[in-house]
Amino acid sequence: MNKIIEFKDVSFRYSEEEDYVLKNLSLDFYEGQFTCVLGHNGSGKSTMAKLINALLIPNDGKVYTFGYDTADENLEIDIRRKVGMVFQNPDNQIVATIVEDDVAFGPENLGIPREEIRKRVDEALKIVNMYEYRRHEPHRLSGGQKQRIAIAGIIAMQTNCIVLDEPTAMLDPVGRREVMEALHRLKNELGISVILVTHFMDEAVNADRVVVMNEGKVCMDGTPREVFVKAELLKSIGLTVPKPLELAEKLKKAGVEIGGTPLTPTEFAEEFKKITENRG
Ligand SMILES: Nc1ncnc2c1ncn2[C@@H]1O[C@H](COP(=O)(O)OP(=O)(O)OP(=O)(O)O)[C@@H](O)[C@H]1O
Ligand SMILES: [Mg+2]
Repeated sequence: MNKIIEFKDVSFRYSEEEDYVLKNLSLDFYEGQFTCVLGHNGSGKSTMAKLINALLIPNDGKVYTFGYDTADENLEIDIRRKVGMVFQNPDNQIVATIVEDDVAFGPENLGIPREEIRKRVDEALKIVNMYEYRRHEPHRLSGGQKQRIAIAGIIAMQTNCIVLDEPTAMLDPVGRREVMEALHRLKNELGISVILVTHFMDEAVNADRVVVMNEGKVCMDGTPREVFVKAELLKSIGLTVPKPLELAEKLKKAGVEIGGTPLTPTEFAEEFKKITENRG
């Protein structure tokens, strides 16, 4: 697997009076993967995300993004062409009064020819399922639709990787689901690497890899199943497990013999069906 982002012994603090937020963090991200980053409040997730595209620079150690040293100011534009960022608040990310102009803003700044931009904007809007809204006013859209417009803006720039810092935190369940579907389509259909910071455990179950941060370090790293079976460890650092698994654990405690480690509602339903079938 190709390494696209490399944190090498990275330490970071916001000022000399404050403690280090990241302490000797070493962490790599790989091409074509959907990686979820979990961790309780203040564990350093947003700081880590901002270090990826040179919004912050390490005090110690190195961050290499697609091989570019983020501490080198001359490489900032190269880095931003490779990695796009989406943040929590959809309202802070809108720059134009018409959806398609908003999506075109990024590629226009890259000096892409008009015809090419038009093509890219249409394709990007289709991927996030917002094409029919192309002539709408973004500020009238729902939070989930606005976030998908922000994601389309990054697709139109043809970055190789997208980093999202709690993009669904301000959305309702429908908006959350639509954004998650768009992100998986990005990975599956365009091969874009996705790094998703979230505090919703359920958003991590379909990831290729889950990284759990605690106190500025990586404390767990594996497939969703490898991570979520360690419910006690997760609990000890202030995290929970996905809802279906939580429910299965509760049922087990109540004496229901449900097996497996169901992470999704579908898996839960399968396990539950086995019990009822056994009962005949
Ligand atoms: N701009 C800032 N100036 C000073 N300290 C900051 C700043 N941003 C974050 N911090 C501190 O750095 C630590 C890590 O914060 P960070 O935002 O990276 O955590 P996080 O894991 O993203 O948390 P959350 O889940 O709340 O978003 C916290 O103690 C926080 O108070
Ligand atoms: Mg954060």
